[in-house]
Amino acid sequence: MYKLILKPVLFLFSPEKAHHITLFLLKIALAIPIVGWLLRRGYEVNDKRLERIVFGLTFPNPVGLAAGFDKDGKHYEAMSALGFGFIEIGTVTPLGQPGNPWPRLFRLPADEALINRMGFNNEGVDALAERLKNRKPGNLIIGGNIGKNKATPNEQAGRDYAICFEALFPYVDYFVVNVSSPNTPNLRDLQEKGPLTELLAALQHLNRQKSKPKPLLLKIAPDLTDGQLDDILDIAKATQLDGVIATNTTISRDGLVTEPKILEEIGAGGLSGMPVKNRSTAVIKYLHQKSNGTLTIIGVGGITSPADALEKLNAGATLVQVYSGLVYAGPTLIKHINQAILKHK
Ligand SMILES: Cc1cc2nc3c(=O)[nH]c(=O)nc-3n(C[C@H](O)[C@H](O)[C@H](O)COP(=O)(O)O)c2cc1C
Repeated sequence: MYKLILKPVLFLFSPEKAHHITLFLLKIALAIPIVGWLLRRGYEVNDKRLERIVFGLTFPNPVGLAAGFDKDGKHYEAMSALGFGFIEIGTVTPLGQPGNPWPRLFRLPADEALINRMGFNNEGVDALAERLKNRKPGNLIIGGNIGKNKATPNEQAGRDYAICFEALFPYVDYFVVNVSSPNTPNLRDLQEKGPLTELLAALQHLNRQKSKPKPLLLKIAPDLTDGQLDDILDIAKATQLDGVIATNTTISRDGLVTEPKILEEIGAGGLSGMPVKNRSTAVIKYLHQKSNGTLTIIGVGGITSPADALEKLNAGATLVQVYSGLVYAGPTLIKHINQAILKHK
């Protein structure tokens, strides 16, 4: 139904408008109890064999919603009705900020891809924390993906991450430090060994002061060299990270079918979807092999079919996430991935 009816209609609208229309429709549907019940029944795969215990948390299934879809924690309940085992909220920054001017999200249908330069548009961490206070008890796992404000220089970035960490600590199940978005100027410089070690060590210090520290993960770009990935492994060990999310969007435009003229008109931004798939999987495989399987990896990037998800799991990921695949394959993708995991057990 999604590919035949909903997708052609949604693709008539700009991608960002289509995103809001989808969420609006989902919310309306869920407000009608019988429809909500039918949706859950249709999308959820409840099977104990899908359960994963990872960094001390019990995930009802290993398929999550990637960061950036629900930046302000307004839609996690609605999205969980589509069968996700976990939802990552954010990226959130200390102060609310508008992000980049529209248009800032583009479809590349020929490549089943998206380019975005959203620029961490969000209402700020206090608004998010306030919203999460009303979180209903249940088995849904929520991750908090944290970043820095555009106006904060890299030298003071640690303070921004610490503010977000403290504000969200009571309300999320795990944290992700995002230093890999290409849309905040110079943010990716924080992936260098020195600043990254300092940033993560400071956050772990705060974390260790809590009576029950929370899992702390790092989200990395697919554009890192093998040498930089080796650094990430060293840093993960030194700062006792709980895991790595591989990967964010890429700045590369290699191998695209979309005409160069169209790409030029779109301009800067992070590319996601099918074209990032192989590189993300290669990064997962590299980290998994080099760490002798000791590093926990959440695999994300270009999962548009169950086979793509299985490929990431076989490469060494323990959990997977999707974003762009939802736009092209529709929400049944989550159920189909879970069914495929059960079939290939
Ligand atoms: C519109 C859009 C916004 C995104 N915003 C964020 C973000 O705020 N923080 C983040 O860590 N990743 C963000 N991402 C990256 C995704 O979480 C994911 O890592 C990436 O898109 C690769 O997965 P995919 O190919 O399944 O989309 C965003 C992606 C898209 C398409």
